[in-house]
Amino acid sequence: MMMRITGTGSALPRETVDNNQIAEWVETSDEWIRERTGIGSRRISTGETVVSLAAQACEKALQQAGKDPLEVDMILLATCSPEYLLPCCACQVQAQIGAANAVAFDINAACAGFLFGLNTAYAYLQTGMYKTILVVGSEVLSKLVDWKDRSSCILFGDGAGAALVEAAGEQEQPCGLIAGVQGCDGVKGMVLKCRERALQNPLFREEFQDGENLYVQMDGREVYRFATRQVADCIQEALEKAKLSVEDIDLFVLHQANVRIIEAVAKRLHADMQRFPMNLEQVGNISSATIPVLLDELNRQGKLHRGDKIVLSGFGAGLTYGACIFVW
Ligand code: UT7
Repeated sequence: MMMRITGTGSALPRETVDNNQIAEWVETSDEWIRERTGIGSRRISTGETVVSLAAQACEKALQQAGKDPLEVDMILLATCSPEYLLPCCACQVQAQIGAANAVAFDINAACAGFLFGLNTAYAYLQTGMYKTILVVGSEVLSKLVDWKDRSSCILFGDGAGAALVEAAGEQEQPCGLIAGVQGCDGVKGMVLKCRERALQNPLFREEFQDGENLYVQMDGREVYRFATRQVADCIQEALEKAKLSVEDIDLFVLHQANVRIIEAVAKRLHADMQRFPMNLEQVGNISSATIPVLLDELNRQGKLHRGDKIVLSGFGAGLTYGACIFVW
């Protein structure tokens, strides 16, 4: 059973924050941020939520695919910044868009979440259990970021991207998702973390250490090292699975974390940078939403053509990583 993307959509908060504004809050500069990350500005929520952004992105994807919300069987929403622990964001999106027939749940695989969502959708499609699935990445990371920590607050932005995936039936040529690889390295997980509430029940009380940091904390260099090696390796593995080579690929749509990481991956793969589209200059790192937001941008600009071979690949907290190969 083939799985195709039949519609994409995205939504970003209204408010843009550029590097100069951040330089008013912490000791940094536009020059430093651009040189070390490639980021120029990002969208920051002034009220938009993971759910409201995701619902908008889903509605656009459905509209593009010409599908009614009632035709959706499943909503998989990747996020690491939900507004509520209960109910999950996916169920709230189900209600907002009126997808009454869909089963819905969240996936937390941080920046690799959208890829894990695509692979999960693929597995469900293979069993024949569901045929029409919305896969969404949505984040409001600005509430998890320590706006006094210049090494991390410069990186992240808010937004959502969605893809409607559908069973394509038997086709003469391979199409849709043709190979997927995903993995985790939990041992190194604490290099990128954000603490939640302490365990407090009548039997046990875990007190937070005085002044314990409840915001995103990151060993940037360690994440950088992991990303450059792991992303290139898992793309190679996915290519081998698909019996393709780097040369066969039209576009590499990578997690938009840092332009230097993308350049390092391109170098490791011996691929030219022209095939690595980027939007991080405008929107920064939106974790699980970066890949679907960029994919939607490319799709709406008419840059994805039937038959194009596209690699999607990302990495994130967990540590998680993954790659998928699509024939568009
Ligand atoms: O989705 C995954 C999310 N995580 C990532 O993508 C993180 C991957 N890592 C990175 O992107 C990079 O490691 C960073 C952009 C976070 C940092 O760049 P770097 O080249 O690794 O810098 P560094 O941490 O080695 O710091 C170099 C210097 C330090 O000063 P000293 O100790 O050399 O005096 C930092 O204090 O740069 C300083 N620094 C800054 N200076 C100005 C750190 N952040 C800033 C800043 N502005 N915003």
